[in-house]
Amino acid sequence: MTKLLNGNQLAIEIRKEISKEIEKNILNQKKRVPHLGIILTGNDQSSITYVNSKIKECKNIGIKSSLVHLPVGCLENRLLEEINKMNQNPLIDGFIVQLPLEKHINQDKIILSINPKKDVDGFHPENFGKMALNMKAFFPATALGILTLLERNQINISGKHTVVIGRSRIVGSPISILMSGKSHLGNSTVTLTHSHTPNIEHYTKQADIIIVAVGIPEFLKGNMIKKGAIIIDVGINSIKNEKKILGDVDFHSVYGKASYLTPVPGGVGPMTRVMLLKNTLIAALNRKNK
Ligand code: GUN
Repeated sequence: MTKLLNGNQLAIEIRKEISKEIEKNILNQKKRVPHLGIILTGNDQSSITYVNSKIKECKNIGIKSSLVHLPVGCLENRLLEEINKMNQNPLIDGFIVQLPLEKHINQDKIILSINPKKDVDGFHPENFGKMALNMKAFFPATALGILTLLERNQINISGKHTVVIGRSRIVGSPISILMSGKSHLGNSTVTLTHSHTPNIEHYTKQADIIIVAVGIPEFLKGNMIKKGAIIIDVGINSIKNEKKILGDVDFHSVYGKASYLTPVPGGVGPMTRVMLLKNTLIAALNRKNK
């Protein structure tokens, strides 16, 4: 039997916890409500949709948000200017620059220009390096969301063999670091596979846990996993001319063989969004001024 890991339900619970903490440690202390800045560039429809849902979630939970939307073709310097304003603005607790950026913009330069103390995405090398060294830092929201989904469903990953498919900075790389790390959320034995890994099923067939973040619809099939494996699907692939989105896991062939499986939608997605709220709350609690 396969149990579906319900990210929607858990995200509701965690939002309640965040709300309570905002009330207790911010509002009751007469401090300003947390404030998230969002910088969006261009007109990529998926990015616009993601940003709109982030704004809506902030509003619902009592976190203030401010959006700066720069047009298609905007120069790198213009984006750097906006980042600098957010870095300097004492009223912004944390901010994100929505990715991907247009090709003419140097992503590394952009991420390096964000003040690490306001980097609630956890993408700046200072936060990424601290995460790899088991130090306190902002951790990327999707990785944190996956770990929380596993932990709150009492799925112990210590000593288990995890295979991660995809080595992106946003998901694959940080989740491999955190799951293999020496912490109560880690201690797993991790194999990181990617586009240059020959015969990926050789690894997936041995895995206790598989995290799939490749951006290829229905990439992981039932015949690539062992019975009872735990499958986490990070994919959000919108299918042209159809209104549906597909995950990176072929749900129908995996369902029934896996012990746990995250649905798409309603699995990892809502957990990612709620972890951004949590990181914003942490940034607000870290602030020195009232
Ligand atoms: N694009 C896709 N996922 C993310 C994310 O978590 N943060 C940002 N900034 N951009 C993204």
